Amino acid sequence: MSDLSTSYMGLKLKNPIIAASSSLTGNLENIKKCEDAGAGAVVLKSLFEEQITSDKNRMVGDMNFDAYTDAYDFFNASSTDYYLDEYLGLVEDAKESLSIPVIASVNCVSPGQWTDYAERFENIGADALELNMFILPSNISTDGKTIEDTYIKILEDVKKNINIPVSIKIGYHFSGMGNFINRAASSGAQGIVLFNRFYKIDIDIEHLNIKSSPIISDPSEIHLALQWIALMSGEISADFSAATGVHYAEGAIKHLLAGASSVQLCSTLLKNGVSHITEISSGIEEWMDRKNYTKIADFKGILSQENSKHPEAYERSQFIKSVVGLS
Ligand SMILES: Cc1cc2nc3c(=O)[nH]c(=O)nc-3n(C[C@H](O)[C@H](O)[C@H](O)COP(=O)(O)O)c2cc1C
Repeated sequence: MSDLSTSYMGLKLKNPIIAASSSLTGNLENIKKCEDAGAGAVVLKSLFEEQITSDKNRMVGDMNFDAYTDAYDFFNASSTDYYLDEYLGLVEDAKESLSIPVIASVNCVSPGQWTDYAERFENIGADALELNMFILPSNISTDGKTIEDTYIKILEDVKKNINIPVSIKIGYHFSGMGNFINRAASSGAQGIVLFNRFYKIDIDIEHLNIKSSPIISDPSEIHLALQWIALMSGEISADFSAATGVHYAEGAIKHLLAGASSVQLCSTLLKNGVSHITEISSGIEEWMDRKNYTKIADFKGILSQENSKHPEAYERSQFIKSVVGLS
């Protein structure tokens, strides 16, 4: 029987399947179902940095406290900790009830006071922290270096406060992707999650409205992360976790061949139910048996660019060939 165990950021996972951060992993009942279905680890839904420190401004901002200073003190004090305490409660409950690693997650866009709170995730027992980072590079006066420096500053500030492994989950808006990933790994990121799938707009041409593009991904969306994991996994010291578009065992196997240490599932669980985890892990196992692989290390990364017999297939020369037919 094949051994599906893997190591991700130093965490021992019984298999490479991680239930990704989403509303699904925001309550104990669902998280337990993920474990029962065979998940190797779970990433809890993200806490937003604003929920850690700035929330009080939003919560008390609209209220007229002229005549109610007691009420102001109450709201000001209680709301500061409200979401953080609720989230820490989720981490604590998850740790008490589950035996698989529990990864906390913060959605962050700026350095600042909130990073001081990171140690509370560690103290409550989180096995790792995933920084779900996204700065939309749409401000025409902010250059790429400034944005990249901000990502690294957040990572370094968090790392100063905790000893558990930290991963960064990023999008694909980097002109110097390879350099940035290397910088993040050198700055202490033990895991690189490629890629998050952010909200995108669509346009309703009948009602002339902006609407959301589909929330659920499609299996054809794996290719961008697949390419970057294949390009980077042989060069970077951090572990890669593949996200976006992994709906079946086939997608998971492709990512492992490219060099990922784990794969994260979200849309397929929302669409097909948490029990789909079992199907995907069985699918990986069946494939390993068929190919005579007894453990993940037998095939992990064998099709990364570094290990490939055809490294040019990952780069421009292949693109030119396919477009203009040069041989
Ligand atoms: C409804 C929904 C909620 C999500 N919430 C979070 C979140 O809180 N934190 C996070 O890092 N990613 C979040 N994501 C992104 C997923 O974790 C995942 O990275 C993304 O959907 C791509 O993977 P998929 O193709 O398997 O869906 C969310 C996705 C969906 C669809």
